[in-house]
Order: sequence, then C-alpha cells, then structure tokens
Amino acid sequence: MYFGADYYPEHWPRERWETDAKLMQEAGFNLIRVAEFSWAKLEPSEGHWDFGWLDDALDVFYKYGIQVVMGTPTATPPKWLMDKHPEIYKRDFQGLVLGFGSRRHYCYNSEIYREYSEKIVEKMAQHYANHPAVAAWQIDNEFTAGDGLYCYCESCRQKFIVWLKKKYGSLDALNKAWGTVFWSQTYTDWDQIIVPRKSAVHRTLGAIECNAHNPGLNLDYARFQSDAIVDYCAIQSRIIRRWSKAPITHNVVNEKYDYYKMGDELDILTYDNYPYLSMRGAPDKNTQIYNPALQIDQLRGVKQKNVWVMEEESGPCGWNALSDTPRPDQIREWTYQTMAHGAESIVYFRWRACLFGTEQYWYGILDHDGIPRRRYEEVKQIGGEMPKVAAYNEGSTVDSEILMVRSFEQQWSHEFQPHSWEFDYRKYFFSLYCGFSKKHYNLDISSEKIDFSRYKLIVAPAFNLMDEALKAKFEKYVAEGGNLVVTFRSGTKEMDNSMTERTLPGYFKDLAGVEVEEFDARYHNPAKVKGVCGDGEVSLWLDILKPETAKVLATYEGDFYDGRAAITVNQFGKGRCYYVGCDLDEAATGELLDYIAKECGVAKAIDNLPVEVEAVRKKTADGKTFYFLLNAVEEKQEIELPFAAKDLLTGEKVGPKLTLNPYAAMVVEPE
Ligand code: GLA
Ligand code: ZN
Repeated sequence: MYFGADYYPEHWPRERWETDAKLMQEAGFNLIRVAEFSWAKLEPSEGHWDFGWLDDALDVFYKYGIQVVMGTPTATPPKWLMDKHPEIYKRDFQGLVLGFGSRRHYCYNSEIYREYSEKIVEKMAQHYANHPAVAAWQIDNEFTAGDGLYCYCESCRQKFIVWLKKKYGSLDALNKAWGTVFWSQTYTDWDQIIVPRKSAVHRTLGAIECNAHNPGLNLDYARFQSDAIVDYCAIQSRIIRRWSKAPITHNVVNEKYDYYKMGDELDILTYDNYPYLSMRGAPDKNTQIYNPALQIDQLRGVKQKNVWVMEEESGPCGWNALSDTPRPDQIREWTYQTMAHGAESIVYFRWRACLFGTEQYWYGILDHDGIPRRRYEEVKQIGGEMPKVAAYNEGSTVDSEILMVRSFEQQWSHEFQPHSWEFDYRKYFFSLYCGFSKKHYNLDISSEKIDFSRYKLIVAPAFNLMDEALKAKFEKYVAEGGNLVVTFRSGTKEMDNSMTERTLPGYFKDLAGVEVEEFDARYHNPAKVKGVCGDGEVSLWLDILKPETAKVLATYEGDFYDGRAAITVNQFGKGRCYYVGCDLDEAATGELLDYIAKECGVAKAIDNLPVEVEAVRKKTADGKTFYFLLNAVEEKQEIELPFAAKDLLTGEKVGPKLTLNPYAAMVVEPE
C-alpha cells in the first residue's frame, strides 16, 4: 500500500527537502503527490521547459524510499497562456468571464486549451515515463470542484450542437424530445441552439440555480458537460498511457459529471476526504461521521474496486477561516474509516502549511514552522501500523448484501426541479444511507447498470428517469426473488426529462402494486405517519397511495388523507417491492429500513452496537472475515462483540467485551 502526503517541493527551499524526506521516512511514508499545480514552473514561458527542479526533488525523496504520484498541472493554466488565448476562460451562466486569480479557470471544451494540455502532458509523460519514482499519475485536480456550475461559452455551445446532432439525428427529433412547442421554443436551424444561460425568467433556490429553461435542454446540457469533462480527462489518459505503464487516477469529488463514465478512463479512483468540511458547508455530527463513509462506498462502487484517498484531512483547514482542529486520534479514526470502506492507500493533505497563497490557513501534518508535533506523531503511529492493516485490507471487499442505486443523471434532473423546495437528492440518499449505517448494515453503492443478482436488497431512492429496459431489469430482479425499495418521486419521468403519461408510480406501478392517487409537498406543514416505521414525521413529500395488490405497512394520520396508505409492500414473482411514499424523520427512517432489512434476511455487520460505533465486516482477498471497529466520537464506548477476536494491530486477544476509547479504531479477526 502507499502511505504519504501531498507535497509541493516548489513551495520550500531545496535545503529543506532532505529534512522533509527524512521525517517522512521515519513516519513510514513511501509516497508523495507532486506537481499538480506547477505549470508555471514547468513551462515558464511558451515552449520553454524546466523539469530540473522536479527531477532533483524526485531524486531526493526517492533516496528515502519515497515515490510520487505525478500530477498533470492543468488545473492551473498560467498567465502567459491565458493572456495569449483569453477565449480559454470559462464563462458562467450569465456569460461573464471567470477570470484569472484562483484555479480551474478554463473551459473543458476549448480546443486551444486541449492542445496546450496535450503538449504539457506529453512532455511530462515522456520525461517521467521511465522514472522509477513514479508510482502513479494524477490527471488535473478535482474536475469542476469549487466552480459550481458548468461553462456556458461559445466553444461549449458549438460542441453542444455537435453532441445534440449525434444524439438526435434531426431537429425534429430534438424538438419532440424537449417539447419545444411549449413557449414557442421550436428550433428550425441547428445554429439556433442555446446553452441554458441566464434567461429572462430566473430564480435561485438556495445554492441551486433554478433556471426556467426547458427540462430536456437542462438535462442534456448536464449530460453534455459531463461528457466533455470525461473527454478532456480521456485525452490526457491516452497520452500518458502511450508512454507510461503506471496507473492513472483522478481525485474525484464533485458530482457534476458521471463518475461511472469517468471511471472507464482511469485505473484507480481517489477521493479527497475532509470530514469537517463535508456537505455544502453545514456539517453536523451525522455528516461528519457518515459522509466520508458514503463517499468512499460510492467511489468503490464506480469500478467495483477499491480506491485511494489522495487528500486526507490532517489539520485544521479552510481558506479564509478554519475548521475544527482534529482531536487526538481523530486523524487516525478518519484514516481507518476510509480503509474500512475501501481505501487501500492513504495520502494526507498536506505535508506542511504553506507560508503564502490562498491556502495559507490550510494546516497539514506540520505547521508553518515545520516542527513535528502531535499531528505528526499521530500520523507516524498510523504509518507504523499500516503494513499490518495492508496485509488484510489490500484486495479486500466489504461484505454487503444491500445495494443502493446511485445515479448522477437522476441527481441532475432533481437539482433543476427538486419537486419540493426542500428536496435534495443527495440529502435524501444520505438520509437512507445513514438509516442503514446507524443500524450497522454494510452496503454497496453503484449504478443501475451492474448485475443485481447477488444482492438481497436493492434501494433505488427517488429513481425518477425511467425507460422500458430499466423497468424490465428491476422486474426481473424482483421476480427472481430480489427485494426492491422504491421511494416517492420514482418513475415519474422519461429519460429525456419529460413527464411520463403512465399512472404513477409510472414504470414502477406493476412492481409496487399501488397507484399514487395524489401527492402533497409538505415543506411548510409536517404530516404524521404510523406503521412499521413507528410514529414518523413527513416534511418534504407524501404520496397518497391506493394499493392494488400491495399490502399496507404504514398509513398517514390527519388531514384529508387520514388512514390512507403511505408505505406498502407487494409480492411480485418470488420477490417483494416496497414502496415508500414519503420522506421520514431520522428515527422513523432507521426503523423502517431495519424492518425491511430484517424481512429480507439481511444480516448486520454486528448486532447490538451503540450508534456512535461503526462496524464494517470485510473479507480478505482469500476469503477470511475481519472487521473494522470505529468509535467516531469523543466519548468512550463499552461494546460486546458476538465473538472473541484477535486484534490485528497488537496481535492480542480481545473481546467479547471491549472498551473503545475516544476515536478508537481497531481491526479484528474473529477467533
Ligand atoms: C482540494 C484540492 C487541494 C487543496 C485542498 C484544500 O481538495 O484538491 O488542491 O486545494 O482542497 O483547499
Ligand atoms: Zn465553455
């Protein structure tokens, strides 16, 4: 396994490199990531290359047994390039230029930028292909992160037209799919096609730009932009592959592009894990604990393969203001949590806090003065433990019987039109994920395209865009004995983002054995529900169900739908389809999912654990069962395992009774 930090040799005097390399070696490091923002150092002016400084840095670190992930520096095109070709700049949805001064200021669709990117990537690939220090390549850095919306420039519009021609063949087909007869939007010439920039009628919904554009246009534009990002990545990976055999990665963190398509262009997916900063700037305890778990599960599901963490939080961090300081042992707990969920290599961000630049306040393992303190000692301890963990963890799998189906297209479609003002696909998905996780069920997250047959239970949250082929796939899975959970806002749309004419829940109606007679968006007036979920509260959305062949599991209380069905289950062939017609508060969500999992014969990782303790049951590459046990909070936890075990880090016997200290992380194998 690789263990290390993100390092910027260009930020420090050469005399310091050796000191850093020694400290790293003592902490068990064998990897640094370098160069991902260093274009202006590598090509200070057009066609003038300077690899000398980086060669020297590689030599120093390699002497200490430290290899590199070589980053291509295309996230920061230099000033000389932008001045020469200002048309590369990205434009926001108002058409305004997003100018120089931070990073990611380029348009993926700019042919000029693609050419310059190809040149520098080829130079680097050529130069470093056979360097023994190069363990892997990272393409660019965090595509789309921080820049929120897509680009809306003329290059994008031109390429969008080409993309649409390929998809629809004719304008007639496009006009029909988008329903442009509405509001006289019919296009009669390809060159009339627009990109969904700010139009005369426009609203914002929290962080979401709720433009008034045609839903078909919006979704196709999201698909097109996603394809453009994947293409841009593919251009780089093809060049690197021509020269180098080292695996290629990208640090995937933003959901504006389709991870599954991106996964096809990469060998390893990596995640940047900042638990204190997760989820739209409003972290609560749940988010801090379970968002990293979800993210790694999700990334592991993309290629159904273990991943790496390319940036692991290792200090108080922020650009303008700081997050909390990681408590003693918390960096260790975060590290083990990511490994539990499928990370095989760990790289901390960053080695040392920088004295200058936008990220002055982003502390890493070392502070500005470069003196090793508590956080260094903690990372060093982890470094010492890693060989023992790696022996079990490399090639291991999470032992999961549940699949949550995660779709980026579904997410984008919900983002333009959330149905209910408070509805957020990601948050809803997360609430179900937490519901299972807090009851200690392990799960996989992956695409609707994978083979369903090995799962006892599949959950498809707010799975809205549907077609005949998907209908047949879900039905086959259930008919053959699978259990499917479908929720409100599923099956109401066609793939082109138009509404289905079918009676709701549309494509899921036969499976669910219910009709959605009416619905009610409850965002200003919570409703009550009672049944297998206990007493629950609905605050976003409720479907009023008319069971046909389904059995009622919960009903509403009060209002004109008093006593009407809210949650149902339907026998379909050898399996069952649960229809969850409403959102639920946290406790009721947990109770419902626990009920369903039990009915479907799904086993918990470990039973009877406190909610603060995470347990992940895994199988080694050769089939041995082992567990990660994680205490995610500052309070001690007394637990009882259903077995006596061997602590894989100390070799000692432990359990069944066990005390987990604050932020304890253990790896155990049942005896
Ligand atoms: C991201 C980036 C890094 C760095 C950190 C901290 O995750 O990938 O380059 O900027 O954030 O801001
Ligand atoms: Zn553009």
